[in-house]
Amino acid sequence: MPGKQRGSTFSQLRLCLCFLMYCWVLADPVCGYFLKNCTIRGNLSDPSNMKVLCYNRNLEVIPIAIPRKVSNLDLAMNKVSKIEKLDFKGLSNLKILNMPRTQISQVENGALGYLEALQVLGLAHNRLTTLSDYLFQGLANLSLLHLDNNLIATISSSSFQTLSSLKTVNLTKNNLYNMKEVQPIVQLPHLQELYIGSNRFTSFQSQEISNTSIELRLLDLSRNPLGVFRITADVLPYLEVLDIAYCGQLGRMEWDVLNRSFLSNVNRLNLSGIEMSFKRMGMVLQTVNSSLVHLRMQDLLNGSRLKVKAVQISPILQDSHNSFFSTIKSPTCVFQDLKELWILKLGSNKILTLNDAFMNGLHKLETLNLAGNKLSSIRKGEFKSLTSLKTLLLYDNQIASMEDGAFEGLVNLTELNLDPPPFSHLTSLENLRIFSQRHKGLSHLPINFLEGLKSLLSFQAGSLNIKDLHRNTFIHTPRLWFLDISKNEFTALTPKLFRPIPRLNSLYLSKARIQSLDFLIAANLSRVTFLQVSKNDITVVNETVLQSLPALTYLDMQDNPFTCGCSDAWFVQWMESDNQTQVVGAGEFTCNYPADLKDTKLLDVELQFCTVDLGLYCYISTTCLVLLTLVASFAYHFLKWHVIFGYYLFLAFLYDTKQRNKLTPHGCQYDAFISYNAHDKPWVLRELLPELEGKQVWKLCLHHRDFQPGKRIIDNIMDGIYGSRKTICVISHRYLESEKLVKRRTYLSWPRAGEQTGVFWQQLRLALETKDDLISQPLGC
Ligand SMILES: *[C@@H]1O[C@H](CO)[C@@H](O)[C@H](O)[C@H]1NC(C)=O
Ligand SMILES: *[C@@H]1O[C@H](CO)[C@@H](O)[C@H](O)[C@H]1NC(C)=O
Ligand SMILES: *[C@@H]1O[C@H](CO)[C@@H](O)[C@H](O)[C@H]1NC(C)=O
Ligand SMILES: *[C@@H]1O[C@H](CO)[C@@H](O)[C@H](O)[C@H]1NC(C)=O
Ligand SMILES: *[C@@H]1O[C@H](CO)[C@@H](O)[C@H](O)[C@H]1NC(C)=O
Ligand SMILES: *[C@@H]1O[C@H](CO)[C@@H](O)[C@H](O)[C@H]1NC(C)=O
Ligand SMILES: *[C@@H]1O[C@H](CO)[C@@H](O)[C@H](O)[C@H]1NC(C)=O
Ligand SMILES: *[C@@H]1O[C@H](CO)[C@@H](O)[C@H](O)[C@H]1NC(C)=O
Ligand SMILES: *[C@@H]1O[C@H](CO)[C@@H](O)[C@H](O)[C@H]1NC(C)=O
Ligand SMILES: *[C@@H]1O[C@H](CO)[C@@H](O)[C@H](O)[C@H]1NC(C)=O
Ligand SMILES: *[C@@H]1O[C@H](CO)[C@@H](O)[C@H](O)[C@H]1NC(C)=O
Ligand SMILES: *[C@@H]1O[C@H](CO)[C@@H](O)[C@H](O)[C@H]1NC(C)=O
Repeated sequence: MPGKQRGSTFSQLRLCLCFLMYCWVLADPVCGYFLKNCTIRGNLSDPSNMKVLCYNRNLEVIPIAIPRKVSNLDLAMNKVSKIEKLDFKGLSNLKILNMPRTQISQVENGALGYLEALQVLGLAHNRLTTLSDYLFQGLANLSLLHLDNNLIATISSSSFQTLSSLKTVNLTKNNLYNMKEVQPIVQLPHLQELYIGSNRFTSFQSQEISNTSIELRLLDLSRNPLGVFRITADVLPYLEVLDIAYCGQLGRMEWDVLNRSFLSNVNRLNLSGIEMSFKRMGMVLQTVNSSLVHLRMQDLLNGSRLKVKAVQISPILQDSHNSFFSTIKSPTCVFQDLKELWILKLGSNKILTLNDAFMNGLHKLETLNLAGNKLSSIRKGEFKSLTSLKTLLLYDNQIASMEDGAFEGLVNLTELNLDPPPFSHLTSLENLRIFSQRHKGLSHLPINFLEGLKSLLSFQAGSLNIKDLHRNTFIHTPRLWFLDISKNEFTALTPKLFRPIPRLNSLYLSKARIQSLDFLIAANLSRVTFLQVSKNDITVVNETVLQSLPALTYLDMQDNPFTCGCSDAWFVQWMESDNQTQVVGAGEFTCNYPADLKDTKLLDVELQFCTVDLGLYCYISTTCLVLLTLVASFAYHFLKWHVIFGYYLFLAFLYDTKQRNKLTPHGCQYDAFISYNAHDKPWVLRELLPELEGKQVWKLCLHHRDFQPGKRIIDNIMDGIYGSRKTICVISHRYLESEKLVKRRTYLSWPRAGEQTGVFWQQLRLALETKDDLISQPLGC
């Protein structure tokens, strides 16, 4: 059986078989029979291209019958734990040996020495722990060595000695911890690229690797716990690429480059993930300021630890052939964690693309200065996470294309400065109409959008979703005559916007969410003859507004939600009386408020009473007051007693009404209430009382006798009167102070001295016996 497999325990036999097979192969070099687990590719008579592919075959040993002229041998992904000394004997034509993921933990001394033409050796993802003295002996033409993802902790000082052609070594992801280990590597005369990232180095000190200048062009130290990065001598004069991303212990790293010129050739620098103050970063960047082309600073500042308010990265580079930031790299990164940041100035940095840097984070950013860079396009949603942004400066760039939705998300933007002004050279342009296609989602027209258009007469910018126009928008177009900014999203406009265009004649502002025309008052639009503000949210028209438009001849205010109250009265009156301005569709203006007038025509609403002016009200009320005062004075002077009597009568009337409601009808307590003057008391006691109570047996109410002590006098009088069927007034001369009042009533006269009193008493009895009131009206039970 033509052996193809060798048990590791039968090495003697194996050697023997190996020899036999070798002879066989020589006899028939094209035959692949012995390599049935490998594939031979290429023109076998042209060995420079012959490939033997044995990857992923579960091989535990290296096949022995490999054609000697093979130039490329791939043994990846097998289970060869050890490379034996003679495994590659005779493969003197081999240029590429690829053995990653082959579980190699051991390589016998000199095993690779036969591969004198080898240029690329791939030993990544194996289990090597040590690179011994003679490991690479004889590989004089080796230029690329992959040793990444091993367990290498020590490198013998002479292991790389003979690798005089070596250019690139990848030792990423090993267990190296001492920089001295790589010293033999960096000393190689042609070494250009050294990848020693993801090891365990705690410091990088130039003197540990060399005291003289070395050829190295690329040094990848990323993801090492470097506490120190120190260069004390000019040992890396050719270094162009330096990657120290994610180095640092707990994010911190001491950066100590003694002389700024030491890294003067570095053009690519990765400083991602290193926590550094901006001052310190500025110092770091200054050491590379003359050459840097590409800077990557992902995860630079950890926002959760650092509350940065403002960042200014000024141009470090003056040299116009290079650029400082050619690109702001990867979004999630540079600025995303700066949660508190509200000012970011990146002006004059020669940034070429934004590269999604503002698609996430920075929700508090209010000012972003990107002026003076080399941006050539703004892509869709480039700023979409900057919802608080108010000022965006983009002037002095080379923006040639702007995608739809380029400014999407900038809901709070009030100032956008774009450059170059798109029309700056069109100094003779008279009519400009911009369409919605290109500027869809543009919420703010760039301030300098119209710059240079000094002849512009007509500007139409409808349907653009513009939310705000900066007050300087029209400063470049003093001759503007016709302006159509309908169908936008303004809610308010500033009067200052119109001041630079005093010649404006026609203004179209329909369907623009305008709520008030008050901005026109101070806008100085004395020449406007045509104003269209239909389909807005205007509820009231201020008189001053129309006064500020003296030339107006055409006004279109259709489809506004008028408040049909007195606030619109003036407007209605004006519409009906003004003979200069045609108000289009005035008859169709409808009310929106109040609810009961909804959909009523404004002109049908009765608002005349609103127009009665205040002066008239004042005149009328003052006149009334004066007349009233006069009447009152006259009445008091000439009708004093009538007034007083009237007053008491009124009081009594009120009391009566009250009493009638209060008291339930009951029998009267007295037959008569006697009203008399104190001076007449003797007569009452002597004459009246004995006659009426004694002889005629009437029950009388006398104040001195029947009034309840402690009760208010007025109440006693009232109760007395109400408790009596009749009231008898004893009227003497004194009583007759009020004679005018009683003379209209029938009364009984007390006979003069010497005359008979019989008739008097008789008449009095008759009066008391009558049912109807005689003299007590309106009082009595
Ligand atoms: C193989 O290479 C030889 C010499 O270069 C050439 O003559 C021959 O045609 C090639 N054969 C194939 C199949 O390419
Ligand atoms: C060669 O391949 C066969 C099947 O493809 C497999 O059984 C055998 O183990 C392989 N030989 C080696 C040496 O791995
Ligand atoms: C090594 O490379 C050099 C230059 O490329 C070449 O001249 C030389 O023949 C190579 N040595 C072998 C053994 O292939
Ligand atoms: C070095 O090794 C790392 C880790 O395997 C790999 O990601 C990187 O691409 C390699 N670099 C080169 C230049 O081979
Ligand atoms: C460089 O010089 C310092 C002090 O002179 C010495 O300690 C160090 O070993 C030297 N480094 C190398 C790589 O020779
Ligand atoms: C820095 O290095 C340059 C060139 O190597 C040298 O001319 C200069 O004097 C050095 N400066 C300092 C401060 O050492
Ligand atoms: C550092 O940046 C370079 C590009 O400049 C990139 O190729 C490299 O992968 C980055 N390093 C790390 C660790 O991300
Ligand atoms: C680099 O920075 C140094 C120090 O700030 C400065 O003197 C030098 O002019 C800068 N070089 C360039 C090319 O800007
Ligand atoms: C940022 O800080 C958070 C919490 O302090 C931490 O979990 C995260 O790993 C840090 N990121 C970097 C890149 O240092
Ligand atoms: C816009 O700004 C206002 C006040 O400055 C703020 O209240 C609002 O939240 C902002 N909008 C967004 C989307 O950030
Ligand atoms: C009209 O506008 C003027 C000036 O802004 C203001 O003083 C006045 O109160 C307004 N009138 C009404 C009724 O709103
Ligand atoms: C317009 O009305 C004014 C007074 O309101 C009057 O003086 C003027 O003559 C009228 N003009 C015309 C053309 O009727």
